[in-house]
Amino acid sequence: MKRILVTGGTGYIGSHACLELLLADYEVIAIDNLSNSSEESLKRVRNITNKDLIFHKVDLLDKQELNKVLSKYKVDAVIHFAGLKAVGESVELPLKYYFNNVVGTLNLCEAMIKNNVKTIVFSSSCTVYGVQEKMPLKEDCPLQPCNPYGRSKRDVEEILNDIYNMDTSWNIVLLRYFNPVGAHGSGQIGESPLGTPNNLLPYIAQVAVGKLPELHVFGDDYPTSDGTGVRDYIHVVDLSRGHIRALESKISGSGMHTYNLGTGKGCSVFEMISAFEKVSGKKINFQINDRRSGDSAICYADSQKAQKELGWAAEYDIEKMCEDAWHWQSCNPNGYE
Ligand code: WQD
Repeated sequence: MKRILVTGGTGYIGSHACLELLLADYEVIAIDNLSNSSEESLKRVRNITNKDLIFHKVDLLDKQELNKVLSKYKVDAVIHFAGLKAVGESVELPLKYYFNNVVGTLNLCEAMIKNNVKTIVFSSSCTVYGVQEKMPLKEDCPLQPCNPYGRSKRDVEEILNDIYNMDTSWNIVLLRYFNPVGAHGSGQIGESPLGTPNNLLPYIAQVAVGKLPELHVFGDDYPTSDGTGVRDYIHVVDLSRGHIRALESKISGSGMHTYNLGTGKGCSVFEMISAFEKVSGKKINFQINDRRSGDSAICYADSQKAQKELGWAAEYDIEKMCEDAWHWQSCNPNGYE
């Protein structure tokens, strides 16, 4: 039985990954500072899987507590989700993002070295690419992040690369997520943003459930099929399973690997609205607003490398993403509150 430390384990993606790890018979030690999530998510993961996991409230900026967990549990690998991820907020509070995302990772790597743990799967992001002309995005695209969030993820990738160059017995996998959406089919765990959602699908779901009056569409004058922004939305369960595949195919060896985790398909805002209306039977009222600063027109992945080397490919389509997002939202109108 392999034992995995999951940082950010109570979060949206972290909790879904803990569930998939338990189903794949891993032992899970989850840590989180609970600044943007609730331990309730892991209570529900235990219910769904009928398996137990260990949770400790730990902040990556608390080196002592972090080292205690790593020295107490002899983990075989770390999956590192913990971090702040709101693009807009990162522009307003850059230092908070660099401390949490970069210094937090430095503390984690130091504790891993102290406890001789040399395998890490890192939750990176397509935002490291920044605005690119050529689509779909491949892993060897030049990295030109255009906001502090994307730069913090790029910086962590560089740090992990330097660690690998220092000691090539490390085993490092960088997973660049595109747009994670949806929820586990049980409707028991899902995305529970604090306050008004920044991202499209949770916002649409809250309009559908009556928590918000209408969606603001940020621009309908982009050079796309219908003028609205196009993104590569990926079901959070597909994304989580990509982590299991990364562990299983890379946990025994050593090396430095980078993979895009997306579907390879673009979907516009209007297409997402139509899909959500179809699966929920609800009308999504919206108004067209100005473009949101920092938004690009089109962003979607080339994920062939993950398919070839990890044997992973996304399975779920937009309607399934909307269906599961709606199931979660309608069963939990106030998230985990
Ligand atoms: C999607 C589209 C908006 C909200 C996200 C995460 C980021 C990263 C990548 C992991 C855009 C439009 C949105 C709204 C709208 N994920 N939109 N009205 O900006 O691609 O970034 O995925 O690292 O962390 O933030 O996602 O859902 O905010 O926007 O019209 O109320 O929907 O303009 O075209 P984005 P998003």
